[in-house]
Amino acid sequence: MNGRVRVAVLLGGRSSEHDISLASARSVLAALDPERYDAVTVEIGRDGRWELGTGAAKETVAETLPVPTASVPATLGEVDVVFPVLHGPFGEDGTVQGLLELADVPYVGAGVAGSALAMDKDLFKSVLRDHGIPVTRNVTLREGDAIQNPFGYPVFVKPARLGSSVGISKAATEDELATAVELAFNHDEKVLVEEFVEGVEVECGVLGNREPVASIPGEIVANADWYDYSAKYDEGGMELVVPPRLSDETIADVQELAVRSFVAGECEGMARVDFFVRDGGEVLVNELNTIPGFTATSVYAKLFEASGIPYPQLLDRLIELALERHERRSRLSY
Ligand SMILES: Nc1ncnc2c1ncn2[C@@H]1O[C@H](COP(=O)(O)OP(=O)(O)OP(=O)(O)O)[C@@H](O)[C@H]1O
Ligand SMILES: [Mg+2]
Repeated sequence: MNGRVRVAVLLGGRSSEHDISLASARSVLAALDPERYDAVTVEIGRDGRWELGTGAAKETVAETLPVPTASVPATLGEVDVVFPVLHGPFGEDGTVQGLLELADVPYVGAGVAGSALAMDKDLFKSVLRDHGIPVTRNVTLREGDAIQNPFGYPVFVKPARLGSSVGISKAATEDELATAVELAFNHDEKVLVEEFVEGVEVECGVLGNREPVASIPGEIVANADWYDYSAKYDEGGMELVVPPRLSDETIADVQELAVRSFVAGECEGMARVDFFVRDGGEVLVNELNTIPGFTATSVYAKLFEASGIPYPQLLDRLIELALERHERRSRLSY
């Protein structure tokens, strides 16, 4: 490619992780080398409005992107690559990825199916089970279903498709379970009641398309009973221990399962896979995030930094991978 690569960074979004996305995107914009990249931003409001900007200046271009009269599709078609730095529903879940497929523009990260699958903790675990990958056990409830809990207490209750621990509770009694289920149903029509796993929480980064590689994993030490929203985002809320205080063999198991989960989930580009490791070394996959928290000091970036790929290089690599996938798929006939 001659000259600078034109990158459109998508940020904000309609989900409750809007602010987290703004922080992630600020880091990305600050780290994209201006000699190599010409960055524009498309900021999506909580109300779904899309605004085009080149930094400070912003211009409202559309109520929502699919409005055909707006200039946005043409604008997106003009960039070389789109970097969706959006977390949660309407960003990380395949919706935006579908739009980018329609616009035929290269973009960073998992495609439509991989994004939608990983967003849904219930569907994702079924696919992993099908691939023989150990996952946490759960029952799935839909609105109107009687509450079930075959696991005893405590249990974790979560909306099927959200992130950042929003809508998640740990329930220690039947009453708490009822409250937790009600809370989770505020966020989704599908809710998981999950067996409590006692053990060490470990996260592992994965990077690549056809030949994905795992980072060195990290151990999450939350300064709270569990890794809730404030432990995730408040100063001093957690400590990341790299490598985890586990045997080399267990660390290798985590890395292998991270890559297998990435492949089983049809991911591309990047993902962060979250695990529990029980005493004795049994490794369970908890979930996979296709657009993990992405500031320069987020877990994903720190894990790759520890693995020898500093943040600016990680961005270069992700953009290369996006271009490579688009080029590869442009050779297919439909
Ligand atoms: N089954 C479980 N047993 C023990 N702890 C759990 C369980 N499920 C969730 N947790 C705790 O809740 C946290 C959030 O759960 P989970 O990772 O499933 O949610 P999330 O909101 O999708 O997270 P992310 O911000 O990583 O996308 C976990 O990091 C862990 O501390
Ligand atoms: Mg998680």
